[in-house]
Amino acid sequence: MPDAPPPADADTLVTAWTRTRNALKAAGVPSPVLDARMLLEAAAGVARLDIVTDPYRPLAEEARARLDALTARRAAREPLAYILGAKDFWTLSLTVTPAVLSPRPETEGVVEAALAALREDQPARVLDLGTGSGAILLAILKERPLAEGLGVDASPEALAVARANAEALGLSGRAGFQPGDWGAGLEGPFDVIVSNPPYIAAGDIAGLAPEVARHEPRLALDGGPDGLDAYRRLIPDVARLLRPQGRFALEIGQGQDADVIAIARAAGLDPEAVRPDLAGIGRVVIGRRP
Ligand SMILES: C[S@@+](CC[C@H](N)C(=O)[O-])C[C@H]1O[C@@H](n2cnc3c(N)ncnc32)[C@H](O)[C@@H]1O
Repeated sequence: MPDAPPPADADTLVTAWTRTRNALKAAGVPSPVLDARMLLEAAAGVARLDIVTDPYRPLAEEARARLDALTARRAAREPLAYILGAKDFWTLSLTVTPAVLSPRPETEGVVEAALAALREDQPARVLDLGTGSGAILLAILKERPLAEGLGVDASPEALAVARANAEALGLSGRAGFQPGDWGAGLEGPFDVIVSNPPYIAAGDIAGLAPEVARHEPRLALDGGPDGLDAYRRLIPDVARLLRPQGRFALEIGQGQDADVIAIARAAGLDPEAVRPDLAGIGRVVIGRRP
């Protein structure tokens, strides 16, 4: 049984949660209830269960100050993942900093497509172009213990985050990370190549949610005038670096499927399908090198 409520003016877990939720809601944060709980957990060092089973637990003054500071950042529309320094992706908890895109649930479709092409009992080489936090590559390596992989990124700061994630997950022995411009200078063959490149049309970035437009790295978002620049540059590398019959999986933006399929065909690849995300939007172009 929870304890009896303390005096009305004292801050408790439940009043702090409510106050934070109202502040986030007023700031237009899209998921104020969940975000308020996550901030409270981080500021007070409590778990979800504590808030539910012990709602009238008093909040220490220092915890309240920490919560107010975190709430101000989230109300300014800083992404929750940057404030907490972590994001769940696949079965992994990844360190995330403002140097990397916060990994998205829809990107798990790239992981699923790669896993479908990789047997658990066979060694394989995987290449992740534009690896960011290392999310896609590390999720694949976690599921395929005989596979090894290389993650490439143009951002040295992103590569530092990816390396730290590989280390923390015990995957650094099988995951290499190196700076690069897509596949330039790399040598194949790879069994599977994955990428979630920047695919937002440059002119659309300012109109995105403030979390994205103001806080995520431009290098991770900007796909040039029509959003397709990265595909034009990296798909010829995919065709060169895949082994014959090797598979690729590329995340795409809404409505980009026909263009990306055409670019892949022109590079001599055989695009086979477009996987939808949970919202039914074509999200991952998959195929093989003939
Ligand atoms: C949309 S983010 C994807 C990050 C991560 N793979 C994920 O799915 O969460 C695209 C990544 O491509 C990287 N990038 C942009 N231009 C690049 C280039 N020319 N060569 C290599 N990587 C590049 C960015 O730094 C960024 O980390």
